[in-house]
Amino acid sequence: MKTQTLALDVYGTLMDTTSVKMILRDMFDEKADQLSELWRSKQLEYSFRRGLMNQYVDFSIVTQQALEYAVQQMGLNTDEDQRRKLIGSYERLSSFADVKVSIVKLKNHGFKLYAYSNGSKSAVSDLLKQAEILESLDGVVSMEDVKSFKPNPTGYKYFNEKTSTEKSDTWMVSGNSFDVIGAANYGMKTVWLKRDQNSVWDPMGFEPTIVCASLFEIAEEIESYLKENEHGKN
Ligand code: LAC
Repeated sequence: MKTQTLALDVYGTLMDTTSVKMILRDMFDEKADQLSELWRSKQLEYSFRRGLMNQYVDFSIVTQQALEYAVQQMGLNTDEDQRRKLIGSYERLSSFADVKVSIVKLKNHGFKLYAYSNGSKSAVSDLLKQAEILESLDGVVSMEDVKSFKPNPTGYKYFNEKTSTEKSDTWMVSGNSFDVIGAANYGMKTVWLKRDQNSVWDPMGFEPTIVCASLFEIAEEIESYLKENEHGKN
């Protein structure tokens, strides 16, 4: 079997974006959950729109502007200090519980492992370092190098160029269906990490190669897929 490379999405896949809820709850009580969801969905919407408009800014600015929108939309008042705290919470997200152990397991199974994110290389590296994941990875690839955002196919292509890999042996692993579809559109194999069993797949004419509920299972799932589908090819 050829060496398989995993492009691991960061926000919503390795790192739990809902972990900001703790701080939000301190500030906004029962409105915290709604604010967290609006903040995240606006962040993604702004990244898509900026990608289409060719108006790249660092992903941290996108996050900041989405927060500004979300608090205004919900009629919440925040002062400078609170906003700083909220933005700061995005720099200290927790990793999902399955990440550390699974990364080591995937490495032992011989996969090459890269973080691949909209976030800047330095922001993502700091996050992964705090979570004690960074040292187990082969590297970090950021969309900042192509000055665009996922799901621009240029980004997935750049991932392969930067890591000297082929799309046929690369798996995009993401909890974000738009990211999985973006990678499938470019031609990578994909794992949709369905962390929330209630999440609905976007019916856009693309399917994930594999669906898993957690990172624990993906090594075996990928290996058995390759055995069944690619036997004799390599
Ligand atoms: C990322 C976004 C998609 O980390 O969550 O690239």
